[in-house]
This record gives sequence, C-alpha cells and structure tokens, in this order.
Amino acid sequence: MTKIKHFSCFPALRPRRLRSASWIRDLVQEHSFSVTDLIWPLFIIDGRDVREDVPSMPGVERLSIDLATEAVKEARGLGIPAVALFPITPQAKKTEDGREACNSENLICRAVFAIKRAVPDIGIITDVALDPYTSHGHDGLLKDGVILNDETVEILCRQALVQAEAGADIIAPSDMMDGRVGAIRDALERGGCKDTLILSYAAKYASAFYGPFRDAVQSKGCLSGDKKTYQMNPANSDEALREVALDLSEGADMVMVKPGLPYLDIVRRVKESFGVPTFAYHVSGEYAMLRAAGAQGWLDYESCLMETLMSFKRAGADGILSYGALDAARVLAGK
Ligand code: PBG
Repeated sequence: MTKIKHFSCFPALRPRRLRSASWIRDLVQEHSFSVTDLIWPLFIIDGRDVREDVPSMPGVERLSIDLATEAVKEARGLGIPAVALFPITPQAKKTEDGREACNSENLICRAVFAIKRAVPDIGIITDVALDPYTSHGHDGLLKDGVILNDETVEILCRQALVQAEAGADIIAPSDMMDGRVGAIRDALERGGCKDTLILSYAAKYASAFYGPFRDAVQSKGCLSGDKKTYQMNPANSDEALREVALDLSEGADMVMVKPGLPYLDIVRRVKESFGVPTFAYHVSGEYAMLRAAGAQGWLDYESCLMETLMSFKRAGADGILSYGALDAARVLAGK
C-alpha cells in the first residue's frame, strides 16, 4: 500500500493558488463593504445657494439647506442609507451657555425638517453636543475652567428633543458627558419620541485628528484648552469597553468608535465583546490625509479610500461615517 504523505508546508501548501485569478480571489473573499454601510457627514451653513470650500478638507463643502437637500438626494440616489448633519453656527449666535442648541428654529432643526421632507427615505443623524453653539468651543458648560457634567446633560436633553421633534431619526450624542445617554433616552421617551434611535459616540477619544472638522464648523478659533477631561485618553482600550457597556445599559441602540483608523483595535474589541451595531467614524483628519497625499500625487485617493473603508468592515464595523462616502458610493456604482 502506498503511504499517503500529509503535507503541512510548501510545496503542498501554496497560498498563492487562492490568489491566482480574479474569479478565485472573489470567491474566497472574506469581507466586503457596500454602499449600505456608509454614512455621509455634511456641513450645513445658513443662507440660500451658499457653497463654501473647507480648505483643510478638499472635496468637502459647507452647504446651505437648499444645496444640502440636493446633495442628500444624490446620496440617496446612489444608495447611501443615512447622512449626519453638522451646523455652522454664526458667531453672533454663540454664547457661553450654547443656548442656541435648544432653539427649535435653529439651523440644524430647519435643515433636518427640510431634508426629511424632500428625501423622506434617508436616515438623518444629528449630533448632540454644545460645541457648535458655545463661545468657548467646548461640548459642555464651562465654569472656572471646569466642564460641568450634570448641568450640561440637562441642556443636551433639550437639544436632543428639539432635534427629534424636527424629524431626526438618530440622535448621536458626541459630547462624552457621563450619564447623558440615559437622560436623553428618558427625555425622548417622555417627549413622545420613543422610537428615535440613539447612536452614542461611546468611545470617543481626545484626538488631534478632529482638527479639520473644527475648521469646517469654525469652532477651532474659539476652543479654549483641550477636551481631555471628557474625551478619552488615546492610550486606553479597556476603558472603551466600559464606556460602551454604560451607554448600552442606558439605552443606546448603536455605538460608535471615533476616530477610525488609529482605533480599529477598539472597533474589533467592541464588536466582539458586545455584538451590537458598531459604527466607526473615519474622521476629518484621516480624510484630509488621504486627500492631501492624493493631491500631491503620492497616493491614489480613491484606491486608498476604498481600502480604508474595507479595513473598517474587516475590523468588525457595521457602518462607517466618512467624508468620502459619496466618492465611494460613486466608485461602487461605477460612476
Ligand atoms: C463635536 C464633534 C467633533 C467631531 C464630531 N462631533 C469634534 C470634537 O469633538 O471636537 C469630529 C468629527 C471629525 O473630526 O470628523 N462634538
């Protein structure tokens, strides 16, 4: 009887066989992403027919509500399921206490209302935090150099409610105050918005990658100090799980890790530990890096964007917020 040899190494095993042609590569591909994984963040500015470039984010514009509505229509046409809206508050409306956040006629509420009416089948996500509205640029109330937690949470509840009443489908608290998810959930329940979803920025790090976003919303010039007393220390990972556990127990439907690429390990741990809808934010600085290198001819922007978005899926993210979402959707649609 011939003895069957069992090989456990080269040349019996040649991993390149599985890569030898495109059909076999496709057949054994482990992960994929599609347009339905993408959330497109948009910056909204006051006025009509206003379109402004954001210099540190090439390809990104601040759009007035009418133009944003058209852009959202295009996004929906390409299959993007949701957009995240961020307002640019005129300097004159910024105050110490950020009270404009709770004005039911403010820019974000008007934008949500108009976009929802024009494009009813796209999900609208709004950010809950005070930084677009405070004269000091912080996400919460500032007193004697300290960010007040509980007093801020009270305002955030009112802010969340005006956004939900304007038609926001998903409320996304990005402020990192303690206890805010539970308080917002309660406020929504009592305010008759029991079906409004909460996507909590559960693991949000104090990151330098938010720089271009602060240019876009014009909060950089105002920011006094940093956000390290509420956003997480980039050196921590177990703490992210604790934050996620708390937000889920307080009633978050979905959680987010932010920034994205430098924190893919956190995305993986969160997804594996909790098995809940987990989103990652490919933030402004990450987008700017791709664009800047692309503009120099050092990288191919589109290919690197697609590879980046795939990496989020590989890490376990269910969805990705990216300023490149529309570009990616066009690539996926072959346009
Ligand atoms: C505001 C907020 C920030 C981002 C989203 N919501 C900035 C910050 O916390 O300073 C950053 C998004 C990005 O960089 O793309 N709370």
